[in-house]
Amino acid sequence: MGKLDGKVAFITGAARGQGRSHALALAAEGADIIAVDICADIETNTYALASSDDLEETRRLVEKEDRRCVTSIADVRDPGQLRQSIEQGVAELGRLDIVVANAGICPLGQMPGNAFLDAVDVDLVGVINTVSAAYPHLRAGASIIATGSTAALMKGGSDSPAMGPGGAGYTHAKKGVAQFVHDAAKALAPESIRVNAVHPTNCNTDMLHSEGMYKIFRPDLEAPTREDTVDAFASTQPMPTTPWVEPEDISKAVLFLASDDAQFVTGLQMKVDAGQALAHTHAYAIK
Ligand SMILES: NC(=O)c1ccc[n+]([C@@H]2O[C@H](COP(=O)([O-])OP(=O)(O)OC[C@H]3O[C@@H](n4cnc5c(N)ncnc54)[C@H](O)[C@@H]3O)[C@@H](O)[C@H]2O)c1
Repeated sequence: MGKLDGKVAFITGAARGQGRSHALALAAEGADIIAVDICADIETNTYALASSDDLEETRRLVEKEDRRCVTSIADVRDPGQLRQSIEQGVAELGRLDIVVANAGICPLGQMPGNAFLDAVDVDLVGVINTVSAAYPHLRAGASIIATGSTAALMKGGSDSPAMGPGGAGYTHAKKGVAQFVHDAAKALAPESIRVNAVHPTNCNTDMLHSEGMYKIFRPDLEAPTREDTVDAFASTQPMPTTPWVEPEDISKAVLFLASDDAQFVTGLQMKVDAGQALAHTHAYAIK
């Protein structure tokens, strides 16, 4: 018996990184998967995004778990593409129970202002588009999970001159995701549809291991390498064990929120951050 037997999950940004890890974690607990990704680059985002081969690999790995996987290429900035992917997935898999709005970019560095707009478009508007496209297929008991970031919870977040307009857009978007999750949870609670956020710290994916990110963490070096950044990443978290968490660590939180173990959990801003945001947050939020 899996925790998600008979359920279907829609995951954006599923070709690699955290999205792929979430697909495998949910499939291992019995869910069939609708997996989408842009499988193309975005001009202001200096590191490469996933490829169609990556998405195909996610499908192969889900099928290895003996679950079905419907893949399609879709850009979360385009509501029509998302609707089409979900409709195709639901037609093949029969239903939709879980939504993981995970796709994201982080266009750091000295860029034109449209890096700000691209980050907001993918990281915030993309989340809203994903939830809107999925909503007509959801029923009581459904679970929506959006990927935020500790950038949403920390003073300044990734909003500093060195991070450029894309960094400011990233923080704006992730703060927006946190607010959207809170307000959508309130709006959808009467329909017994839950909405929660996961907020990862530094996570071991291509987004973190990118030239732009390394330069932010080691501004003293011309061309910092992965090795050069370990201590700098580790110093951002009070728990001493790790410079970054693994995608699988985030997937454990996603699995909890997706499953009936969390049947009364909604509106949660769930940090998986080795304590990174603690210096910036209060014990509880009061109006
Ligand atoms: N890696 C980190 O340190 C970290 C920390 C906090 C939050 N996050 C968030 O985690 C999420 C997953 O990122 P990741 O760490 O796995 O990085 P990643 O770059 O490995 O994965 C992101 C995926 O999203 C896809 N994508 C990007 N733009 C898209 C679009 N417009 N439409 C559809 N797909 C698109 C990419 O192709 C890629 O497969 C993102 O929302 C990111 O902001 C990451």
